[in-house]
Amino acid sequence: MSQGIVTMSYIIATILFILALGGLSNQETARRGNWYGIIGMSIALLATIIGVVERHYEILLLALLIGGTIGIILARRVQMTQMPELVAVLHSLVGAAAVAVGFASFMDPGRLAHFAGVELTIHDIETYLGILIGAVTFSGSVIAFGKLSGRIGGSPLTIPGRHWLNLALLIGAIYFGYQFVVQSAAGGGTEPLVIMTVIALLFGIHMVMAIGGADMPVVVSMLNSYSGWAASATGFMLGNDLLIVTGALVGSSGAILSYIMCRAMNRSFISVIAGGFGTGGGTVVSGDGEDQGEVVPIDTQETAQLLADAKEVMIIPGYGMAVAQAQHTVYEITKTLRAKGVNVRFGIHPVAGRMPGHMNVLLAEAKVPYDIVFEMDEINEDFPNIDVSVVIGANDIVNPSALTDPNSPIAGMPVLECWKGKTSIVLKRSMATGYAGVQNPLFFLDNSRMLFGDAKETLDEVLKAL
Ligand code: TAP
Repeated sequence: MSQGIVTMSYIIATILFILALGGLSNQETARRGNWYGIIGMSIALLATIIGVVERHYEILLLALLIGGTIGIILARRVQMTQMPELVAVLHSLVGAAAVAVGFASFMDPGRLAHFAGVELTIHDIETYLGILIGAVTFSGSVIAFGKLSGRIGGSPLTIPGRHWLNLALLIGAIYFGYQFVVQSAAGGGTEPLVIMTVIALLFGIHMVMAIGGADMPVVVSMLNSYSGWAASATGFMLGNDLLIVTGALVGSSGAILSYIMCRAMNRSFISVIAGGFGTGGGTVVSGDGEDQGEVVPIDTQETAQLLADAKEVMIIPGYGMAVAQAQHTVYEITKTLRAKGVNVRFGIHPVAGRMPGHMNVLLAEAKVPYDIVFEMDEINEDFPNIDVSVVIGANDIVNPSALTDPNSPIAGMPVLECWKGKTSIVLKRSMATGYAGVQNPLFFLDNSRMLFGDAKETLDEVLKAL
């Protein structure tokens, strides 16, 4: 394959990736966006395999076979609730790949023959940055995986003087970068490169450990961004334009997503990264030591009656709906109520669930029409007109203390203000807290009712009763 065809294929792949991102920004076009991405990636792989790679095809095919098989098995097995963990693992692989390519490129015997003077310095800086970003992405993503899967506690690790520690690590990385560039020109450089890799790995661990449970959405999108920059740096090392552009697309869209997440949670990006927000892992009843009063339980028959008598119903899905896989029953109930003339709408909080767009994906899977699904900002003012809000496995996103208690770990985060409606029915299995580990005063309000049990089971009964 000629160089011209490879370049042409890369340009087409880049355009398809941009179209994919555009498509994914909207539910109606998301499927098409996905296809653009798949086709773009296939073109990119084919052009690289046929047009760029020159030898060792057997190793390449073996790697593709092993990697592809693992990918297919993982994608088939993974549950929707484990998706964020999978994404974190995939980010860690991008980071590890950048580190591996960086070291391979440094150890390549042809390096000193190919590059000299300024070119060598530039190549060395690319290698150094690639390994630095890759190592931070790798260790940070591994810790994020641990936190999202509950293997590591959600509370922020706030060691004294942590900002100074971060500063020291940063200064260390700059110093060893200088040492690396100087020593590399003289044929050395291994030592500063290895020391920096260790520093970067420690920094990644510390950065994510310092971030509390409720702020994890920002971490996920931030690591997404880092993995893009790591890929981009790898592109510079290998002189591959497509990798540079694709990495930059992932890096910048991840950065924009982090900004959107921060805005949704009313946090400044710097304060999240500096760490220390959010608390526990999510299954303890905190109660904050205060007596919050009694909750009023409700059964499935009464719930069905309340819903059938209502004119305006708002469904608020949260992480528990994903755990229970209740989305199909939710839609069946929605259809039944709408057939009775009840106006049923969905209110989606930007950080509901465990990954951006989590609830939208579930509702789309159940074929809930998009025109009755609303973002928090669009419907929050409607709650005074709502007869019944059904909170399905959601907790933090409907917690009024975010607005009233300045000491709460989720203080300042906008929430769905369902308590302003006539009645809120909360579906959950117990009085356990949500991801941020804080008790929810909503459950104890006079106009709240608790429907205890697995959301799928209780909703099946509500549907039957309807
Ligand atoms: P949470 O506050 O975590 O509450 C989920 C609730 O669902 C729990 O209180 C749990 O109570 C209940 N639940 C679990 N399984 C259930 C089942 N089978 N049936 C019924 N209920 C069930 O979730 P949320 O309100 O969606 O808020 C999201 C939280 O996750 C926020 O703190 C957010 O910052 C954080 N987070 C979000 C993301 C993204 S990007 N969306 C990423 C990481 C973290 P029981 O145990 O009593 O049933």
